[in-house]
Amino acid sequence: MDNRPIGFLDSGVGGLTVARELMRQLPHEEIVYIGDSARAPYGPRPAEQIRKYTWELVQFLLTKDVKMIVFACNTATAVAWEEVKEQLDIPVLGVILPGASSAIKASKTGKIGVLGTAMTIQSDIYRQKIQALSPDTQVTGLACPKFVPLVESNNYQSSLAKKVVYETLKEMKGRADTVVLGCTHYPLLRPIIQNVLGQEVTLIDSGAECARDISVLLNYFEINHSRTVAQPRHLFYTTASPKAFREIAENWLGKDIHVEHITL
Ligand code: DGL
Repeated sequence: MDNRPIGFLDSGVGGLTVARELMRQLPHEEIVYIGDSARAPYGPRPAEQIRKYTWELVQFLLTKDVKMIVFACNTATAVAWEEVKEQLDIPVLGVILPGASSAIKASKTGKIGVLGTAMTIQSDIYRQKIQALSPDTQVTGLACPKFVPLVESNNYQSSLAKKVVYETLKEMKGRADTVVLGCTHYPLLRPIIQNVLGQEVTLIDSGAECARDISVLLNYFEINHSRTVAQPRHLFYTTASPKAFREIAENWLGKDIHVEHITL
């Protein structure tokens, strides 16, 4: 048993999609979340800068005495997960492997689409991970650089969002029976994405799949929460406006939360 919190990092509010799944699947676990909204989006930035920012988020979480770190960000996972995982002595989990293996399981035609940030698509990591497990699977990646700003600005339900998603996903239509939401911000746009791609397409939420793996790792290392507290205390930190973060977070999580501003 280990009652320390689990650390979550993301460039902004996207990691909340993973946190929500964790709260649903493991309601006794406590979360410390850091979202770097002041520097989001990470996707268009050079790899070296993303690596530096990610390390800063990791160092911050380590000051909170976390028992595990979840990279609730595909872009940070693509760039820095391997090296961070090797250097820490607590488990570090990324969102890409769980998303890749679930997509293989779900696809009936062997044609998988991946939506992600410019860096995630450019890194080619989803194709590599998917084809390492299933070499005959065809993978089509599509960068969607306009999606994260829509979510970070709390415009993810607007008519502008519908227009942008429609325009961006035109070229993905009909190319895959299973599409990975390869950025943790995208589940907030899920109803619109599903509508544009068609109800017959299976969408894979890489974050939700990751929550299941967190549970497996907690069991494996025997570091589950002892379940003695009635209400877990989650802590949320943002590098930008706590008010803006709270608005999106409370709407998405369906509960009141406490958010603090920090400077990295
Ligand atoms: N939530 C992120 C991801 O999963 C990051 C997006 C960004 O900041 O560009 O990739």
